[in-house]
Amino acid sequence: MSEAYDAVVQREHEVFAPGVRRWPLALERGQGSLVWDVDGNEYLDLTAGWGVNCIGHCHPALAEAIAEQARTLIQTTNIVYTRPQLELAERLDRITPGSMHRSFFLSSGAEANEGALKLAHRATGRARFLATLGGFHGRTLGVMGVLGQEKYRARWSSLIREARFVPYGDLAAAESALDGEVAAMIVEPVQGEGGVLIPPDGYLEGLARACRAAGALLILDEVQTGIGRTGRWLACDHSGVEPDILTLGKGLGGGMPIAAFMATDAVMASIEPGDHGGTYAGNPLCARAAVTVLRVIEEEALIARAARLGQHVRERLEALNARCDRVESVRGRGLLLGLVLRDPAVAAAVHTRTREGGVLVNLTAERVIRIFPALNIPEDELDRALDVLESMIEKD
Ligand SMILES: Cc1ncc(COP(=O)(O)O)c(C=O)c1O
Repeated sequence: MSEAYDAVVQREHEVFAPGVRRWPLALERGQGSLVWDVDGNEYLDLTAGWGVNCIGHCHPALAEAIAEQARTLIQTTNIVYTRPQLELAERLDRITPGSMHRSFFLSSGAEANEGALKLAHRATGRARFLATLGGFHGRTLGVMGVLGQEKYRARWSSLIREARFVPYGDLAAAESALDGEVAAMIVEPVQGEGGVLIPPDGYLEGLARACRAAGALLILDEVQTGIGRTGRWLACDHSGVEPDILTLGKGLGGGMPIAAFMATDAVMASIEPGDHGGTYAGNPLCARAAVTVLRVIEEEALIARAARLGQHVRERLEALNARCDRVESVRGRGLLLGLVLRDPAVAAAVHTRTREGGVLVNLTAERVIRIFPALNIPEDELDRALDVLESMIEKD
């Protein structure tokens, strides 16, 4: 490792909490789908900051809007009205299902999901939740109760109020668990962190019906799948299902910390001032960034692009699957793709080697290489990145 890298790592070890297992990589700057480390080495980024940088790193329009807003008004108390927040709520109203009219802004996906759970409790008067095994919704104490991965929950079991969990994609199991006490079922339309799992056709429609029949609400967590990631504005647009509550985050701010929960008029009517919120929730700087992200996605037709590029990646990975028995399957929707390898040890080695070869991918669910680049990644860069990934998988 270089002197520049060592200097960063050593200093960090002295002052940081061990909150994350870092890659041996210190990044300095990014542009589009390229990032550079402190030694000037270039990487192709297929992670987009975990799906956040949906219009790429430092998109000129986003950088300009943030700079301009920073010179105008960065933060106020949220007790006052501001234009960027209003404009964002109006744009979200336009791009989300017809019934989702009202937005409540926060700074992270976990806070948005906290708000969704609190709202469901308010709206139904019930206090139990149903969630899916393998689901991921954030790490705050409230949402940990609905986080379907034991590895995250186990150490905090005495502090959290656990939901009941059903297998993802199993409609019958959800139907029988939806008794008269469940306030809401929370579910991702595609399980991201859980391994890029696509539920069977009809699953979300069935859940919407079953929730309605049980007097429970359906919360769709679109923190990862929303804002064009799956080739539609929202993943639920593929099936036409309209949830009672919808949560957004990640791509919404294109890198600025902003998230939202949205709901129908009727459901949102049960929230009262003071029920939920945050000091930075929807502040002018983040809201302006989000407005710009949504505008760029529209102007550059990135949703259709995500669908087309996703199909392209899929075809390449399917061809790899056909010729390489290290691959078990390929799954995903739009530009949220999972390449499932048979052996976790091989997956870990591929993950490391690919990075050493100049391409950043994510390894999740032990043996799933998750690919979720910026929606505007240039096609030649995408192909170059896939060349590297494929060669690392096929390498002896
Ligand atoms: C589906 C989903 N929901 C919620 C979250 C939590 O979002 P945040 O990390 O912004 O709190 C994530 C983060 O990965 C996620 O993938």
